[in-house]
Amino acid sequence: MNEPLLRVVDVHKSYRSGSRTLHILSGLNLEVQAGELVAIVGQSGSGKTSLLNVIAGLDRPEKGSIRFQGQELTQLDEPGWAKIRAQSMGFVFQFHQLLPEFSAEENVMMPGLILRKDPIACRSRAQDLLTHVGLSDRLTHKPAQLSGGEQQRVAIARALMNAPPLVLADEPTGSLDPQAGKSLFDLIQQLRKEHNMAFLFVTHNPVLAGRCDRMFALGADFNAFSKPNEV
Ligand SMILES: Nc1ncnc2c1ncn2[C@@H]1O[C@H](COP(=O)(O)OP(=O)(O)OP(=O)(O)O)[C@@H](O)[C@H]1O
Ligand SMILES: [Mg+2]
Repeated sequence: MNEPLLRVVDVHKSYRSGSRTLHILSGLNLEVQAGELVAIVGQSGSGKTSLLNVIAGLDRPEKGSIRFQGQELTQLDEPGWAKIRAQSMGFVFQFHQLLPEFSAEENVMMPGLILRKDPIACRSRAQDLLTHVGLSDRLTHKPAQLSGGEQQRVAIARALMNAPPLVLADEPTGSLDPQAGKSLFDLIQQLRKEHNMAFLFVTHNPVLAGRCDRMFALGADFNAFSKPNEV
């Protein structure tokens, strides 16, 4: 069998809190295949955001291996990891992190411009993506002029700009009403079919988690389990 797109093996992540050490991820294993849609579920504080940060190299694990597209990421220096992030990963952060001085359209274009793609093509794709998420009449709005759910949809469109092989999405439907959440999920399904994109998708929504290929749960005892959904 081919190597999975992402293979996380025996990853440990802890945080110091005063004199105590909080063990958040203790020997975590996870594989994601190309084009797979995996829901990460677990109670608040169980380590979902920590896991995404470790996979993206925004935070380093103390121990363990993270292989992505056949390459060991934990051995990379910061610029090496930043290059992988820019070229091959998309992010939807829990707290959107849009650039406040730029419009919705410009925020979405940014990952393409960073890769020095043609600005005209980037603008056209940004407009398409924003139309897909229902924001065709908000292109020139700055983040402060958008509602929370609208900002979230801009952040999603931005993550999809370069059609990266892996999108890490931290509660991407958290600020959306059920209809907008379902539309977003339909867009994700369409994109992974068109581009064979994989999504690691943190969600508290059991309906959306049930529509993913697989559910990966971080439990109260920090032991992970993984089960295929019946799709
Ligand atoms: N930089 C840090 N220093 C100390 N503790 C941290 C740090 N970052 C996270 N933690 C702790 O690690 C635990 C896991 O945090 P994390 O953000 O991964 O949880 P989560 O599962 O994403 O929760 P939520 O559903 O609320 O977003 C939390 O208890 C948090 O307090
Ligand atoms: Mg979180």
